[in-house]
Amino acid sequence: MTDQRVHDDLVAILEETREIGWGEPADYLRDVQRRDLDALAAAVCTTEGEVVGVGHHDRALALQSVSKAFTYAVALQECGLDRVLAFIGVEPSGEAFNELSQLSDGRPFNPLINAGAIMAQALVPGDTLEDREALLLDRYSALAGGQLEVSEEVLRAEQVRADRNFALAHMLASSGMLDVDPHEVVQGYLRQCSVEVTTTQLAVMGATFASGGRNPVSGERVFDERVVQQTLSVMLTCGMYDASGGWVTQVGIPAKSGVSGAMLGVVPGAMGLATWSPRLDSHGNSIRGVELFRRLSDRWDLHVL
Ligand code: DON
Repeated sequence: MTDQRVHDDLVAILEETREIGWGEPADYLRDVQRRDLDALAAAVCTTEGEVVGVGHHDRALALQSVSKAFTYAVALQECGLDRVLAFIGVEPSGEAFNELSQLSDGRPFNPLINAGAIMAQALVPGDTLEDREALLLDRYSALAGGQLEVSEEVLRAEQVRADRNFALAHMLASSGMLDVDPHEVVQGYLRQCSVEVTTTQLAVMGATFASGGRNPVSGERVFDERVVQQTLSVMLTCGMYDASGGWVTQVGIPAKSGVSGAMLGVVPGAMGLATWSPRLDSHGNSIRGVELFRRLSDRWDLHVL
């Protein structure tokens, strides 16, 4: 596919999905997202490093839950698969992202729901919150090929309504799973959710996964292939929360969504795709984003099966 064809298809599909006007952003993010409510963007980065972005693809948005996939990969890379599996399972939970019943035998079901993401944050090596964040930001930035930072504005909104996340961290602590202070772990988790990227950078992060862990633009190896395989496997089966089954049948690529309206998709060996539109459905997934992916998957035959 030529860059021009990719660009034209993205523009056409963006215009088709712009018509979907319903859906609300998350309540607690309403102030932060006020000016971006109708933002709409899509970007592709191929494994050859060709980048195409359309719509508001250069505007900053928070990673939110998309960060869960990246932190899981960092934990796998740093601690090894066996250790991570001892603390975090790989089964879909079939429940909302922040449900409190997220532990089976004390272990979170998977790393892409909040309990598992909080656990993954706790596995990132480092003596302090700052050490862990420095490592995460370094790896996230290498994935994106540009320096990423935490948005203090998003972080403040997250901190106001973090009760469920604190509850989950305390549940993990009471099962003897945390050797770090639960409050500190939640702070780290909220900070990783508040890291800002552009839609184009998110597509490059996806393309690094699509390339087996090597950033196709910068050439830097960020993760081992086995780490990428593990991460993409859970993205395929668990990345869209309790809408994951429908996603696999209809779109059929590993993906992760965030409450900011961000969506990341990975077509192994081919491309990373990112979309952004803050209006959400009842699962907390971007309405236009899901539709964009559905149409792109059809048009470009992206389904991995
Ligand atoms: O844990 C939370 O509530 C947020 N910081 C992230 C949630 C999120 O992105 C859920 N996804 N749709």
